[in-house]
Amino acid sequence: MIDLSGKRALVFGVASDASIAWSITQWIVKAGGTVILSYQKRFRSRLFQLTEGVSGIEALEECDVAHEDQVRDLFNRLEGRIDMVVHAIGYAPATALGKPIIFTTEEDFTTAMVISSYSLQRIARHSMRKLNPNGSIITLTYLGATSVVPGYRLMGTAKAALESLVRELSPVLGAAGHRINAISAGPIRTLAASQVPGFDDILDFMEHTAPLKKNVDQEDIAKTAIFLLSDLASGITGQTIFVDNGFNIMGVPPELDSLGRD
Ligand SMILES: NC(=O)c1ccc[n+]([C@@H]2O[C@H](COP(=O)([O-])OP(=O)(O)OC[C@H]3O[C@@H](n4cnc5c(N)ncnc54)[C@H](O)[C@@H]3O)[C@@H](O)[C@H]2O)c1
Repeated sequence: MIDLSGKRALVFGVASDASIAWSITQWIVKAGGTVILSYQKRFRSRLFQLTEGVSGIEALEECDVAHEDQVRDLFNRLEGRIDMVVHAIGYAPATALGKPIIFTTEEDFTTAMVISSYSLQRIARHSMRKLNPNGSIITLTYLGATSVVPGYRLMGTAKAALESLVRELSPVLGAAGHRINAISAGPIRTLAASQVPGFDDILDFMEHTAPLKKNVDQEDIAKTAIFLLSDLASGITGQTIFVDNGFNIMGVPPELDSLGRD
């Protein structure tokens, strides 16, 4: 088991018990770490219910990452130092997801890029003054960053920028001894995923096509997350690691493989 005892994490992106960030939180605590959870105002009551009586949660902090002053104030309020940061945030206006990207407005484009991509730079920048030596930051991305996935549209462009940011931030953080990586998660039913048109079809196609012939779940992602957050991953930075049962390596669906047919 990975040992995170004595380590503190700041986790962004829990909205419900289905959130990938909630599973990561539970696995950090299971590994001996503690967590400060930052949530978006609209999920406040849900977060308080979810975390009631749960050990290992140090504090709940409201923050909208679209606003520089809110992120700055959150880090100013943070007492002591932290070791790990989880950025599990994604958003694009529904109006943009429902139509081809050629119709995306500048306003929707900017919103998606600021919340889904730029927020990582914002959080990494403020983290620099709070991270203990050998700190680790992770973010969550999706295959739509590098391939066209119907329904994902503008989010794919935002995730491409996010993955580039992980690479660009890596030497900057590395100069201070910190690491930053992305996990490219396979599709999982969550609140954010419910905004993606045709999501159920994507789940079916993934299960059918992935080498492991199943979908991933929140725990699959959380297990890789705690590895990347831990010192076991001390030589890994600037990477996007796929946790998708191998789906991304398939060029064509398995039924096109004549050698696989009887
Ligand atoms: N579910 C999937 O299929 C899947 C696959 C690959 C990657 N991801 C990524 O995983 C991450 C977590 O998503 P999830 O699927 O667990 O869904 P989720 O809905 O549980 O989490 C999304 C989170 O983003 C937060 N958020 C959105 N706008 C914000 C803002 N302005 N300020 C602060 N927080 C804000 C929400 O509050 C929510 O907690 C996202 O980056 C998502 O793109 C999800």
